[in-house]
Amino acid sequence: MRVVPSNTRPAAPRTRRFHALPARRAMSEFATYTANGSKSAAANGTPNGSNGSNGTRGTAWGAVENPAAFDFRSDVHTTPTAAMLQAIQQCTLLDDVTMEDPTTLSLERFIAELSGKEDALLVLSGTMGNQVALRAHLTAPPQAVLCDRRGHILNYEAGGVASLSQAMVQPIDAQNGTYITLEEVKAYAVISDDVHACPTRVISLENTLNGAIMPLAEVRRISAWARQHGIVMHLDGARLWEAVAAGAGTLKDFCAEFDSISLCFSKGLGAPIGSIIVGTKTFIKRSRWIRKSIGGGLRQAGVVAAPARVAVEETFLGGKLAQSHENARKIQKMWTDLGGKLQYPVDTNMVWLDLQAHSVDLNYFIELAERYGVRVRAGRFVVHYQIGEEAIERLRKVFTEVLTGEESRGKKRKAEHDPEDLKMKGKGVE
Ligand SMILES: Cc1ncc(COP(=O)(O)O)c(C=O)c1O
Repeated sequence: MRVVPSNTRPAAPRTRRFHALPARRAMSEFATYTANGSKSAAANGTPNGSNGSNGTRGTAWGAVENPAAFDFRSDVHTTPTAAMLQAIQQCTLLDDVTMEDPTTLSLERFIAELSGKEDALLVLSGTMGNQVALRAHLTAPPQAVLCDRRGHILNYEAGGVASLSQAMVQPIDAQNGTYITLEEVKAYAVISDDVHACPTRVISLENTLNGAIMPLAEVRRISAWARQHGIVMHLDGARLWEAVAAGAGTLKDFCAEFDSISLCFSKGLGAPIGSIIVGTKTFIKRSRWIRKSIGGGLRQAGVVAAPARVAVEETFLGGKLAQSHENARKIQKMWTDLGGKLQYPVDTNMVWLDLQAHSVDLNYFIELAERYGVRVRAGRFVVHYQIGEEAIERLRKVFTEVLTGEESRGKKRKAEHDPEDLKMKGKGVE
């Protein structure tokens, strides 16, 4: 008989493994880089995102500190929580192209009900949500989509409105600096069957836009007018959750004003992947067809749907967004108490510092922030729920040094990244 030494594990049987690690071990490792775990890691003085004493880099699966907890570049930089990973382990794994997967179908039903719409369709990203929805509405050129000049669909979706929908974009400027109004919409919308015209078929709003809320009252005015003229209303609601959390109206209130809405799970809600579009059954049926045509039909979609549901339940319904807004106001106050100027008021989870007004060089600012252990990309700070006290305290030091020249204790790291790589190239991207 062969004796196996007690410190030697027998080779694992050659069966198909569905998970890289046994669930319990994965969860306890995970605990070090969730929002709570980051606090204790930070208290140990462990470097963030840099080479730790054991030489491991701050990656999501091996970090001693949650890298997302110190990342203000965007709320897309979050780390999926233990509950989300657990949901992936427990989800159903049937085919969603054939609409057989219970986890996916139940998420779609859940969001349709939450938003007060007939039906919903899971998509992979916010861009896919907007583009599929617009393509579903836009069926016969010549046709145009009217939107805010700063809108994501126009500036950051790779020209998809032109290439996928054969539509022209009619961008308009928000004269109040925050949101477009009915008067501006009326002035620029094209309602004509003249042979020279490109008629406005869709008005696409965005809420929040650059963190600012478009008030429900204005949305209602635009929507009522659009309906009178047979114009379709679409909402890029990637961050509509934030407007609702700030008390601007309920999800149902806002969604009632639109024919289609795209909502993101992987911004402030913290899911690893996914967005959803909602609308009528007819619209969703057509969108499903279009999603398929661009390769967005998924097989075992439950792995995307399951953490998305956790994100909605824990972060949105669980009330965590309010804390991010509170932290955004704290950051705003820290900056203005030091005499700092802002570009925009803080409505939700974004803070826009006016670095130009203080003649602050962007590369210097980004590099300095890195040296204090926080990652930024310019004067725009996006707060998400995994950002806590420790990160805000580090920011206080950055702000103090930038505005007063006083160096604080704790600036011990080398900036790892070329600021050009972190810099925000456009406003509102991500
Ligand atoms: C307002 C808005 N809409 C849509 C998107 C697109 O989302 P995704 O990056 O998932 O394609 C973003 C991305 O950050 C966004 O900020």
